Amino acid sequence: MDLKGKVAIVTGGNSGIGAAIVLELAKQGANIVIDFRSHPESTDELEKKIAALGDQAIGVEADVSKIQDLQLLVDSAVKKFGRIDILVNNAGVETRTSILDTSEAQYQKVLDVNLKSAFFGTQIAAKQMIKQGNGGRIINITSVHEDWPMPGNIAYCLSKGGMRMLTRTAGLELAKYKILVVGVGPGAVATPINLSTMKDPKLMEKLDAAIPLGRMAKPEEIASVVAFLSSDAAGYMTATSVFVDGGLMHQSPGL
Ligand SMILES: NC(=O)c1ccc[n+]([C@@H]2O[C@H](COP(=O)([O-])OP(=O)(O)OC[C@H]3O[C@@H](n4cnc5c(N)ncnc54)[C@H](O)[C@@H]3O)[C@@H](O)[C@H]2O)c1
Repeated sequence: MDLKGKVAIVTGGNSGIGAAIVLELAKQGANIVIDFRSHPESTDELEKKIAALGDQAIGVEADVSKIQDLQLLVDSAVKKFGRIDILVNNAGVETRTSILDTSEAQYQKVLDVNLKSAFFGTQIAAKQMIKQGNGGRIINITSVHEDWPMPGNIAYCLSKGGMRMLTRTAGLELAKYKILVVGVGPGAVATPINLSTMKDPKLMEKLDAAIPLGRMAKPEEIASVVAFLSSDAAGYMTATSVFVDGGLMHQSPGL
């Protein structure tokens, strides 16, 4: 995947899947703006790793639930690298609450960080890409839960379902500008978001048994798909989602 000369922004780029995406895009030659909200020291670590690969990266502290911070990310990319070609809307949170016990604040946070950020990030990045005049890529990290209900995680499912329609509708609206919009829906991935599950051997056993490929994904296995979708090899894909879930969504109930 040759991404030399391309400029990417990765939101939530200093941990888990986001960090793996940063490293993979950098390995393929892209310049990167790494958005981070917390743990600036892990962004420094990442910058060092990328510098060792011979590529450039900068860390920018931005809260993606705020429109002015999304604008800051795009402005930082243009200021440092002159353009933006790829936006990966990866930042995400969950509350693990049900319809009966989700507070307004919890609802708002999940919807703002997961969906509002992807909506306005897409809008702001697309305006810059249109100005540049040679297209671009928006990649939304959704989840199997863009389609698959998960009782006890309702606000998350809502946000990811919204990202599914954002991907499809923005994909159609932006096609005439050669801006391609694709969703990537991971299944269960070994990252900090799943720490409590990963610490519980019984739960892990149950989870592995439910996944046809028999294990969680490594973050790198999501990142490689994002690199493909960022490249010319994926030039005819838009307004759709790709699931990277080891068969989880289509598992047989074992009957
Ligand atoms: N790990 C999984 O099993 C899994 C499965 C499906 C989808 N996903 C999705 O993948 C994405 C990455 O998750 P992960 O598994 O790497 O977990 P993670 O917790 O390591 O990463 C989430 C990232 O989002 C960032 N973030 C949270 N709020 C933010 C804000 N307001 N502004 C900027 N950044 C913010 C965090 O700092 C962190 O870097 C999420 O969108 C998640 O929903 C994960």
